Amino acid sequence: MGLGHDHTHDEPSSGSLTEIDHVGIAVHDLDAAVAWYQQMFGATVAHRERIESDGVEEALIKVADSYIQLLTPFVDTSPLAKFMERNGEGLHHVGYRVASCAEVLEHVKAQGARVVDEHPRTGSRGTTVAFLHPKSSFSSLIELVEE
Ligand code: CO
Repeated sequence: MGLGHDHTHDEPSSGSLTEIDHVGIAVHDLDAAVAWYQQMFGATVAHRERIESDGVEEALIKVADSYIQLLTPFVDTSPLAKFMERNGEGLHHVGYRVASCAEVLEHVKAQGARVVDEHPRTGSRGTTVAFLHPKSSFSSLIELVEE
């Protein structure tokens, strides 16, 4: 509430990031992970999809305007399978929602960030996505997501 003045509080801008779109969690058994979220939190799956190009299957659990993205590889050659060989289950990436994946990708490249995807591509739910390489982002894998 204001204290006698009527101008609105200025919130710091997050620039081109408009929401946390999702948090990606790698699991060995997708059905078991879904059942766990159901049992613990009463959570239900909002969307399930096999993403052939990535060799992964996902189950999205909606949390407000964001998702928990449970992910499991279905082929040994998928990048997620390689990740899990090294790191096991757990936090894999954070998806940041942006208005324009192409614009933000060009900007971060121009600013020297390493990227996995040189160009935006199609993600799940018909989104447009691109991954930044964790090497230049504090060892965290970042996905840009345009709905
Ligand atoms: Co993702």
